[in-house]
Amino acid sequence: MRRVVVTGAAGFIGGHLVERLVRAGVLVIGVDRRDPDRDVAAAANVEAVRAAPNFVFVPADLAHCAVESLVLGADVVFHLAGVPGVRPSWGLGFAEYAESNIVATQRLMEAAVRLKVPRVVLASSSSVYGRTGGAASPETSATAPLSPYGVSKLAAETLCLAYARRSDSATRVSALRYFTVFGPRQRPDMLIGRVLSAALGGPPVRLFGAGDQRRDFTFVDDAVAATLTAATAPVAGVFNIGGGRAASVADVVRIAEDITGTRIPTRPVAARDGDVPATLADPTRAREELGWQPRVNLVEGMTRHWQWLNAQAGHAEAAS
Ligand code: NAD
Ligand code: UGA
Repeated sequence: MRRVVVTGAAGFIGGHLVERLVRAGVLVIGVDRRDPDRDVAAAANVEAVRAAPNFVFVPADLAHCAVESLVLGADVVFHLAGVPGVRPSWGLGFAEYAESNIVATQRLMEAAVRLKVPRVVLASSSSVYGRTGGAASPETSATAPLSPYGVSKLAAETLCLAYARRSDSATRVSALRYFTVFGPRQRPDMLIGRVLSAALGGPPVRLFGAGDQRRDFTFVDDAVAATLTAATAPVAGVFNIGGGRAASVADVVRIAEDITGTRIPTRPVAARDGDVPATLADPTRAREELGWQPRVNLVEGMTRHWQWLNAQAGHAEAAS
């Protein structure tokens, strides 16, 4: 890999991926519709690489911009741009999901195949599986998303794979089904960041439903390691990126109380439509075909996330 494109570069996972690539000396074209010059969270996500000579940031909306000039000459396109978040995808808001997760992906694949980009790595999602009854999902499981978001990610994945199968295609696609990623700079709508922030005096955590939902939580460095491996592996296809261990929302609160030594204030509220009761990856394919397995378990990852939040709070205090 000498020259790559990372879409969603100013996002949570994209920012971490860009950091790893830039540090490895790869020329990275980062694309995102959030401009770090105008958006504080986006600026934080790319802060470490902003001045690097091998990082070029292009503020652009992939649903509307000219795409071919962006991907021309790329060895790999890492397509992480998208509107995430399961619960807000109902109602009128779906138009945003359709545009950024489906239309933008189709535009990108049209360009990638035309320009013979050798490899596209897509950020797909565990939400494509839907209700699993708590059993581990291999990639061959039926897909029946419970949320419009999940539908949009399944559409993105299927689109990419359809483009890769075209007779004129020299582009190979790997779709990575990430399972609930956490760690420093996690999106503010997500559970673990909210729970740990509550220990630092943030708002009480609203727990949706009984708090017995289970997730196969994945530390962001592990998700990034899988993404890099998928870009250069001889195999392509659909891969679960999750460790094969689940914890409940209530477990997360308990672990946070142990790590922080603080009682986490919580408030039960109604369950949210589209929220699956459980996710659990069967990671066999990623282990056997990519040689990937997670290195950071939930307690270790939450400890690192907590240390990072504390360091942030320290910097903010010093600056005030
Ligand atoms: P994020 O919101 O932090 O990052 C996504 C980035 O994509 C944002 O910076 C956003 O501005 C950008 N974007 C959205 N639409 C765009 C468009 N039309 N043109 C250009 N840029 C656009 O989210 P994240 O948590 O880092 O997730 C990254 C990807 O991984 C998403 O595709 C998401 O669906 C997927 N994913 C995330 C998780 C998770 O647990 N975080 C799990 C499964 C899948
Ligand atoms: C996460 C990401 O947000 C999605 O973008 C991604 O596609 C998905 O993972 C995935 O694995 O594919 P989610 O599992 O809902 O979605 O992640 P969190 O927002 O961290 O929620 C985890 C659990 O905590 C959910 O059951 C949710 O209902 C609960 N939760 C979350 C709360 O009870 N309160 C909150 O404030 C936030």
